[in-house]
Amino acid sequence: MYVCVCHAITDSDIRSAAGKGVSSLEALGDELRLGTCCGRCKECANKVLQQSLMESCGTGHCKLGSAA
Ligand code: FES
Repeated sequence: MYVCVCHAITDSDIRSAAGKGVSSLEALGDELRLGTCCGRCKECANKVLQQSLMESCGTGHCKLGSAA
């Protein structure tokens, strides 16, 4: 699905960037230009990025959206 409509960036693009070491919203902006136009995508993009990073940590302790 498209996350950033302004730059046609999908969740797959974000997951791919995370796999290459991108670990912050700022870095996504530098790498893909995500969030550098209207900025409406930032919240959703951050969720996708964090989920991707948690899935790749491999510990099984990370639960996106769980109450602390
Ligand atoms: S939707 Fe991403 S900058 Fe506009």
